[in-house]
Amino acid sequence: MLEIGIYVFLLLGIFLIFGSAAYAGLKASPWLPAFKKDMERILKLSGVKEGDVVYDLGSGDGRILIALANNTKARLIVGYEISFLLYLWSVINIWFKGFSKRIEVRFGDFLSRDLGQADVIFCFLTPKGMKKLGPKFKRELRKGTRIISYTFSIPGWEPVSENRIGDQSVPIFTYVID
Ligand SMILES: C[S@@+](CC[C@H](N)C(=O)[O-])C[C@H]1O[C@@H](n2cnc3c(N)ncnc32)[C@H](O)[C@@H]1O
Repeated sequence: MLEIGIYVFLLLGIFLIFGSAAYAGLKASPWLPAFKKDMERILKLSGVKEGDVVYDLGSGDGRILIALANNTKARLIVGYEISFLLYLWSVINIWFKGFSKRIEVRFGDFLSRDLGQADVIFCFLTPKGMKKLGPKFKRELRKGTRIISYTFSIPGWEPVSENRIGDQSVPIFTYVID
């Protein structure tokens, strides 16, 4: 009986880890971290001010969250992550780095959460994910909220800037809600 229990427990664990990663890929994007060489550009374009609330939609291993905590005076930095292994890894890493008071990683689907509290939103998702977010941003975000989208634009939206460094670099799109 105990053996069956352990077997079921292991199966559930495997399903949670691989199933949630596959689900993320289907929903808005599989995991691929933003390039380290682009971090400075991302931070500069995000324009985070003292006291801001910043969201990373699909926070992966938490590298953007940690960079924001290290380099800005944001009051609260929130990451949403649906892949269980990445969620767990980032929570542990953030705790060891001593940022647990300013960074909150929330396990779940950002498409079903209200994003209205954010002053700045960062996202690195597929075009399919960006298409889903466009109408949600329109409904929920306040005037003046900045959106920094790495690599892919929001379909049908006009960015206030499209940042590239040379021909080979990844574009970063900035939007401000009016
Ligand atoms: C391309 S990665 C970007 C990771 C991180 N933002 C970075 O730039 O390094 C996209 C992340 O979004 C997560 N994701 C995809 N759809 C999601 C959803 N609906 N809710 C929460 N997380 C999601 C994936 O698991 C993955 O970790």
